[in-house]
Amino acid sequence: MKILVATDKPFAKVAVEGIRKEVEAAGYELVLLEKYTQKQQLLDAVANVDAIIVRSDIIDKEVIAAAGNLKIVVRAGAGYDNIDLEAATEAKVCVMNTPGQNANAVAELVFGMLIYALRNFYNGTSGTELKGKKLGIHAYGNVGRNVARIARGFGMQLYAFDMYCSDELIHNDGVIPMSSKKALYEKCDIVSLHIPATPETKKSINKELLSLMPEGAVLVNTARKEVINEEEMVELMEARPDFKYLTDILPGNHEEMTRKFQGRYFSTPKKMGAQTAEANINAGIAAARQIVDFFQKGTQRFRVN
Ligand code: 3PG
Repeated sequence: MKILVATDKPFAKVAVEGIRKEVEAAGYELVLLEKYTQKQQLLDAVANVDAIIVRSDIIDKEVIAAAGNLKIVVRAGAGYDNIDLEAATEAKVCVMNTPGQNANAVAELVFGMLIYALRNFYNGTSGTELKGKKLGIHAYGNVGRNVARIARGFGMQLYAFDMYCSDELIHNDGVIPMSSKKALYEKCDIVSLHIPATPETKKSINKELLSLMPEGAVLVNTARKEVINEEEMVELMEARPDFKYLTDILPGNHEEMTRKFQGRYFSTPKKMGAQTAEANINAGIAAARQIVDFFQKGTQRFRVN
């Protein structure tokens, strides 16, 4: 059995060693493809593997077609919008994610970016604090819950909106559930995005919604760039000189944003939310174990297709 780890953005070395240990203990072989620059390298690497572990690497129809022996793909992480589920299902390939494994890392980065921006990118001028601010958590999944836990320590007032999460669960965490997306954005000084990229959410964070936020508003995005209406974000920031946008996913219009909104727009150069040794170990080893259990016991927990 051959297990390929294909990561354009590699895991920490210690995580790769952990994955190797799991794979070899099961008697399987680990194949590593890191920092590849051409799709062809991925197409060649998948040719005779039984399983693939990826991060945000694109597993489309062509990749699946090139992987004749493939039985399972595990996305070591939360969002699986990079995998063509339809093509996988058609090819009888099981797709899983590893929910929660990198959630703390992403949540910690939210506060790293917030403090950096609220202190004016450490330029020496007087900034603002998190304490007492109203934080809106848009989608209360694993990352959202970790954001709430950390935000409590900062003394923030917490609000959340999640269509799929019960008010009771949100309430039990000391967070006020909001009845609508609109109500959340109207109420909160800072909104942290944790929605997946789906046909319903794509471009859903638009000018109309963001205009509802109060004076001095901040939007922090550690989710996906696709959920933002990028053209309308420009319009909004032109109309609202008080508005800040911080993102961990380089927007399509990064150059324009940098040029127009100096001092209130920031993007990491490459998605960094899950780039910690801990998150890599958690997600990578979970992915390896899920593959071993799938082959040895038929376990399909966390299957998403
Ligand atoms: C996720 O969906 O798990 C995060 O966006 C992390 O993605 P990455 O593994 O590509 O850093």
